[in-house]
Amino acid sequence: MQTNLQILVDEAHSLCRKLGGNGKVADYIPQLATADPAAFGLSVCTVDGQTYSAGDVWTPFTMQSISKILSLACVQAAGIDPYARMFAEPSGDAFHSIVRLEEEKGRPRNPLINAGAIVVSSLLPGATANDKIEQLLGFLSRCAGGASFVIDDAVYQSERRTGYRNRALANYMKHFAVIDDPDTSVDTYFRQCAVRVCAGDLARIALFLAADGRDPLSQQLIVTPDINRRLLAVMTTCGLYDEVGQFALRVGLPGKSGVSGGILAIVPGRMSIVTYGPALGERGNSVAGLAALEFLSSRLNLSLFCPPDLRSEGTPL
Ligand code: DON
Repeated sequence: MQTNLQILVDEAHSLCRKLGGNGKVADYIPQLATADPAAFGLSVCTVDGQTYSAGDVWTPFTMQSISKILSLACVQAAGIDPYARMFAEPSGDAFHSIVRLEEEKGRPRNPLINAGAIVVSSLLPGATANDKIEQLLGFLSRCAGGASFVIDDAVYQSERRTGYRNRALANYMKHFAVIDDPDTSVDTYFRQCAVRVCAGDLARIALFLAADGRDPLSQQLIVTPDINRRLLAVMTTCGLYDEVGQFALRVGLPGKSGVSGGILAIVPGRMSIVTYGPALGERGNSVAGLAALEFLSSRLNLSLFCPPDLRSEGTPL
């Protein structure tokens, strides 16, 4: 099984790595435009502690929107209910959309669009942006069995200089009293987006999501099974914004993408998969990453909608 999975990961890499040529690196945060559009890697962590990787899995990138699911996990692990302030419905809109906030009185559609994620950042325990980020970094370290992570200051500063749309979202939500302190909330959000990882790190951090909330390697409970299932549910319905339907058709897994080119996908009970390819398609998701996930899902019958007895690979919990 191990050899088969490595062969398929290698095959996914060699079939998909050129597809970045069909996409474009994000440049609305100027520092992101320095990424190599040809970079491509994928990393798989299984719940029994094996890793399989190919390509640029040690290339650093910033989490961007993939951080949204981890800050949500951190807030929920602290016993805070973000759904008291937002809906849990797919928006059908782009990640940074402001359109529904007017008609829905400042309550975001879900925690994975920017508006919802800014609310989640505001709910991280701590009074200042520093405290909140320390809380999140501590949480990420616990998820990864003690590894530590830092913020990429160049990316943080770049987004801080240009992120007026996110400031507008935060101020708009303050008007409706959905958040208390827009400046702290948005500053926390910019910093969490700039946490630096590589595909291998991120697959390790997210392994608890594949193991019903417990890190299977350290045996630490990261979130309760109930919270974990909600995290996977919201990834499945909202994780790829206005491309979430295509992702369900093509991959059929809970996923979360980021504008720096990462995609995280979870196979419940079995594995976390992270792809990194900074060339994005029209909806802001990695072209090569999506194709590689589609390939692996189809070859291994990973889709949630596939009967369990047809799954050809896997390690049950
Ligand atoms: O809010 C922003 O613009 C970025 N820091 C994160 C956006 C992002 O990653 C969207 N997801 N694909």
